[in-house]
Amino acid sequence: MTAKQKTPTIIQHKSFPRFDLGQRWEHLLLILSGLVLLLTGLPQKYPSLAISQDILSTPEQVNLIRQVHHIAALVLTLELLYHLGRAIVLLVRRKLPGDMLPTWQDVLDAWQMLQYLLFLRKDKPRFGKYNFEQKVTYWFLFFGFGIMTFTGFIIWFPVQVTQVLPGGVVPAAKLAHSTESIVAAIFILVWHIYHVHFERLNLSMFTGRLSEEEMQAYHAKEYERLTGKKNQPGEKS
Ligand code: HEM
Ligand code: HEM
Repeated sequence: MTAKQKTPTIIQHKSFPRFDLGQRWEHLLLILSGLVLLLTGLPQKYPSLAISQDILSTPEQVNLIRQVHHIAALVLTLELLYHLGRAIVLLVRRKLPGDMLPTWQDVLDAWQMLQYLLFLRKDKPRFGKYNFEQKVTYWFLFFGFGIMTFTGFIIWFPVQVTQVLPGGVVPAAKLAHSTESIVAAIFILVWHIYHVHFERLNLSMFTGRLSEEEMQAYHAKEYERLTGKKNQPGEKS
C-alpha cells in the first residue's frame, strides 16, 4: 500500500460559533438554580401532598428546604444581576448585539410559520441568528424570572418591605410568586424543552456551536450573512 492510499479520508464538517462559554455557564446556572428552586418551592405550595409531607415532616426539614430555596434564590439573583450588568456595560460601549430584540420581521415570520403549518404556504420562513420562537423564550423567561426574584425578595423580607410599601403587597407578591412558578415551569417543560429537544435535538447551548447543515436549515439568513453564500434551492430554512 502506498503512503497515499494509507491516508484516511477526512471530511471536514464546518461549524459556526453560537454561544460563548460565558453564555453556556449562565444557562447552566439557570437550569441548576431553577430546578432547585422548583423542587424546594413546590412542596411548600402543595403541603398536603404525601410527598410534600415526607419532605416537610419536621420543623428542621421545613427550615432546611427553605434555606436551600434561599441559597438557590441568591445564586439566581446573582446570575440575573451579572446578565443585566454585562448587558448594560456592552450597551454603554455600544457593543451590545441587538440579535435578541424583537422586530416587526418576527411578527411576519410567526405569521408565515402559521400559514406554513396550516398548509397555506409551501416554504418555512427563513431566520436570522435568533428566530421568533427563541426570542419569545428569552423574553418570557427574562420577565418571568425577574418577577420571581422581585416577589421572592418581598416575601423573604416582609417586615422591611412593609415599612416602605402597604401591607397588601406581601400576599400579592406571594400569589404572584406561587403562580408564576407554575407558569415558568410549564413554559420550560412544554415550550422550551419541546423546541430544543423534540422538534430537533439542538445541543448548541452545551457545545457552543451549530453545524453548517443546521445553520443552513434553521438560520439561513444568518448563514448567508456570515458566509456570503446563498442557500441551495430546496434546502430547509
Ligand atoms: C425559578 C425560580 C423560582 C421558583 C420556581 C420558585 C418557587 C417557589 C414556590 C413554588 C414557592 C412556594 C409558594 C407558596 O407557598 O405558594 C416559593 C416560596 C418562596 N420563594 Fe421562591 N421560587 C423561585 C425563585 C425565588 C427567588 C429568586 C426568591 C428570592 C429572591 C425566592 C424566595 C422565596 C421565598 C422567600 C418563599 C417563601 C418560603 C420560603 O421562605 O422559602 N424564590 N418559591
Ligand atoms: C431553568 C431552565 C432553563 C432556562 C431558564 C433556559 C433558558 C434559555 C434561554 C433564555 C435560551 C435562549 C433562547 C433560545 O435560544 O431559545 C435558551 C436556549 C437554549 N436552551 Fe435553555 N433554558 C432552560 C433549560 C434548558 C434545558 C433543560 C435544556 C436542555 C434540554 C435547554 C437547552 C437549550 C438549548 C439547546 C438552547 C439553544 C437554542 C438555540 O439554538 O438558540 N435549556 N435557554
